[in-house]
Amino acid sequence: MARVRRIGILTGGGDCPGLNAVIRAVAKSAIFEHGLEVAGINEGFGGLIENKWRLLKDEDVSGILPRGGTILGANNRDNPFMFRTVTAGGEVTYEDNSRTAIANLEGMGVDALIVAGGDGTLSIARKLHEMGVPVIGLPKTIDNDLRGTDVSFGFDSALHTATDAVDKLHTTAASHHRGMILEVMGRNAGWIALCAGIAGGGDIILIPEIEYTFENVVRSIDERRARGKRFSIIVVAEGAPLPGGEKVYRSQSGGDKEFGGVGEKVAERIGEMAGMETRVTVLGHLQRGGSPSPLDRILATGFGTAAVELAVAGRSGLMVGLRGNRVQEVPLEEVVPGQRKVPVDGDLVSFARSVGTSFGD
Ligand code: F6P
Repeated sequence: MARVRRIGILTGGGDCPGLNAVIRAVAKSAIFEHGLEVAGINEGFGGLIENKWRLLKDEDVSGILPRGGTILGANNRDNPFMFRTVTAGGEVTYEDNSRTAIANLEGMGVDALIVAGGDGTLSIARKLHEMGVPVIGLPKTIDNDLRGTDVSFGFDSALHTATDAVDKLHTTAASHHRGMILEVMGRNAGWIALCAGIAGGGDIILIPEIEYTFENVVRSIDERRARGKRFSIIVVAEGAPLPGGEKVYRSQSGGDKEFGGVGEKVAERIGEMAGMETRVTVLGHLQRGGSPSPLDRILATGFGTAAVELAVAGRSGLMVGLRGNRVQEVPLEEVVPGQRKVPVDGDLVSFARSVGTSFGD
């Protein structure tokens, strides 16, 4: 086995708190612990195709641990296997540029590539690995929906933001006797809504994994009223379909539909049916911003250093994840494609039900 001398790192997909912490962990452990060089690839897979990279030195990653975002830049559009190009005439075409990606990695002298991303990014990483690129994945997403790990970094920080919002909505909801609807991110998984709902004491939690009806939601509001509670907090995941199954999208960006707007629809129906004044807060990208929580910094540091150790050992086609209290590797084919949804009969749902939280089912 040839000795690994230079590793590459890129951050793909949407950004999240903890990306800089993971870049720092990879670079510091590679440089100090293993005497390697680190190529930082800018702007995800788009930057790889366009050969945008630089050598990362200790001073580049010093002081970035608490900073949100990513010093490398991210992008959730570019896929080397379906690379989007706009012609001079404005026509959009897609072509397979994976060979360019591989040639650029060779040109950079990268012996192993570390990719921090969610399911889209790690699916690309898996395909590159199948073409012979030594790739190691790091689980990054506020949605917490990656298989092969108990938790991804970014989630805990987003959860802090969402929980803070539930706390703040409580005081104003109680003053005005309103129904307050908080729409949170998470795509097709309800982890942020469920966990922020539990942590903030939301009264009703609507998630994609549990079918609900407006009648049941209103029944819970009425039961609360009968107990003298004249306000209700409803935490709704952006990917929770309306009763009947329709998902609510704001728009189409590139090939993907952007979630958004379910909170308004829920508020409208609940307002009418419960005869209650409602207000909607869409938390949006606040959940992806700001400084990573201590837990995310620790996870990112553990995952980043473990990925470098795998690279040095000549292992690849793996993602580093957390199982119980241990950082462990898992084959990429067990991670992607696919999503880790909230188990409807799991402990978290059951804790919430035990304290009287309704799921509208
Ligand atoms: O996957 C992370 C995420 O923040 C989702 O929760 C959300 O639906 C999506 O990305 C938003 O993407 P964009 O930044 O492209 O609007």
